[in-house]
Amino acid sequence: MKIAFFDSGIGGLSVLHHAMKILPDEEFIFFADEDNVPYGVKSREQVLGYVDAAFKFLTAQNVGAIVVACNTATSAAVRAMREKYSLPIVGMEPAIKLALDLYPNRKVLVTATEITIRGEKIHKLINRLHAKNLVNLRALPKLVDFAERQEFHSDAVENYLREEFAPYDWENFSSVVLGCTHFNYFKDTMKKILPAQIKFLDGNAGTLNQLVRLANLRVGEGKKNPPVEYFYSGRRVTSSEELARLESYLRRLDEMEVII
Ligand code: DGL
Repeated sequence: MKIAFFDSGIGGLSVLHHAMKILPDEEFIFFADEDNVPYGVKSREQVLGYVDAAFKFLTAQNVGAIVVACNTATSAAVRAMREKYSLPIVGMEPAIKLALDLYPNRKVLVTATEITIRGEKIHKLINRLHAKNLVNLRALPKLVDFAERQEFHSDAVENYLREEFAPYDWENFSSVVLGCTHFNYFKDTMKKILPAQIKFLDGNAGTLNQLVRLANLRVGEGKKNPPVEYFYSGRRVTSSEELARLESYLRRLDEMEVII
């Protein structure tokens, strides 16, 4: 089956990267909305419009399922897309439940974009988990721009994270939830700043479990080089320079994968 992975930019590669390792029989399309990234600082209506345009394109590509590999687009638009299209659509959910299951009664810092943090979806989730007192939310919009520029551990990144992480009493925390798919690229820099006991959790495995269930896929050892067609806002990526850019993100994700 051909499966589409969609994100505002290169963050969704972190979900695709995982899928390539566990889905040996599938082909992939990756759609990065590079014309409109970042989504997180725009209005929900704008994001809904971008997602709608991407879905129009992707549903014409003969795909069997679409993974919205973007927490922001999931928060703003997944419900509307499910009403409009009948193919399986899988969104992202910040791994708050996983964090609380693994580390009961310990605090969690959920990092995400403004849209995700202000959205109804995450607050409903926190209420459902009765976790208001255990969850702190923090928007880290600058990480999206840093990631798009492939700037992962400059002084600017480090200073930004140090400042954003400064207000918390980390002794009481178990983990940082990466509630934006662009944030997976910064695990090493975050690790350098935070106390050693802090773990990193993301929603990638949860999203792919859901995809496997909904689209009835076989899980196994993924192929080394599964077929992937890359698109920037609907334009096929063919230049060797851009393909090398995408490849270098995937190699960085190899390094980040082992940091927990
Ligand atoms: N990668 C996206 C997410 O998971 C959003 C980044 C952005 O465009 O602001 O939330």
